[in-house]
Amino acid sequence: MIKNIAVIRGDGIGPEIVEQALRVLDKIAELYGHTFNYTDVDMGGCAIDKWGDPLPPEMLKKCVESDSVLLGAVGGNKWNDMPGYMRPEKGLLRLRAGMGVYSNNRPAKIWPQLANASPLKKSIVDKGIDFIIVRELIGGIYFGEHKTEDIDGKTTAIDVLTYNEEEIERIGRIGFETARKRGRKLCSVEKSNVLDSSRLWKKVMHRLAEEYPDVQLSDMLVDNCAMQIVKDPSQFDVVVTENMFGDILSDEASMITGSIGMIPSSSLGATACGLYEPIHGSAPDIAGKDVANPVGTILSAAMMLRFSFDMPKEADAIEKAVSAYLDAGYRTADIMSEGMTEVGCRQCCELIIHNLRKE
Ligand code: IPM
Ligand code: MG
Repeated sequence: MIKNIAVIRGDGIGPEIVEQALRVLDKIAELYGHTFNYTDVDMGGCAIDKWGDPLPPEMLKKCVESDSVLLGAVGGNKWNDMPGYMRPEKGLLRLRAGMGVYSNNRPAKIWPQLANASPLKKSIVDKGIDFIIVRELIGGIYFGEHKTEDIDGKTTAIDVLTYNEEEIERIGRIGFETARKRGRKLCSVEKSNVLDSSRLWKKVMHRLAEEYPDVQLSDMLVDNCAMQIVKDPSQFDVVVTENMFGDILSDEASMITGSIGMIPSSSLGATACGLYEPIHGSAPDIAGKDVANPVGTILSAAMMLRFSFDMPKEADAIEKAVSAYLDAGYRTADIMSEGMTEVGCRQCCELIIHNLRKE
């Protein structure tokens, strides 16, 4: 198969982790006889520096026209004082919206080899951690009006949170469908004791539940959910939630699995063209030092093969190679523990490639 992939290296550790994921994709292409063509796309701080815009329109066009997009990370202290519309993160939000990828899938699964890297007690980890957060990605407070103005002589900041029932229903369906393919348990997370948008969220989820009698729906307030994730994560199968709650809970969920550096994500909309990115940020403090963990990005590339290119065997091969790398006792600095062998970003990738086999 021939696939055209738009590649956004971005800022901080972005370029080095994306480089490793491309090396893995090249090896997959060689083993399975595919051709992956890469088109570089500038987005984030580097695009601000080069083009004066975090996502120039022609860059978005390249992404929309590709078969899928692989992204490293964007942002850094250098651009912190920019106005909101000119921040690197704004490029990412415009990319997600421009691609129409409303459904962000963030798995929180513990690798057995990394059970002792979890900050949770062994008795909790032993019950198992394997759930998915389905996060609404192109609505809510991220996309409402943002302004700072003088009201009654006081500087006042305003961010607007809006959801309509169609936006809620389409992400709700993804939640139910995802649960249907797994443990058939869906937990809808909101703040319906305070927010109107959450009350509508809850109502739409219950309306949808009638179409999915085989899935058990539960509701949970977001503050309680944050607590339950550390108290007993084994209770969750699929969590569906709005944009900002999903952002926060997915960082928490990744941490209990040992390292945010290991977690991939997929974002999909109405077409097969998806956006694939690790869930961690650009970590400017360790950029260029060859110490970043590239596994989140490598696994994001595997998700691209599985969900956008219909290449499940190739995706399995990458996941198995990552598992074999961990079995052999290699660890990047973020998950290093006693008795293991510490490796850098490039060497981690080489070891994974070394373990890649055609299924
Ligand atoms: C994430 C990130 C982004 C988000 C930032 C960089 C805008 O935290 O993908 O989780 O909040 O969506
Ligand atoms: Mg986040």
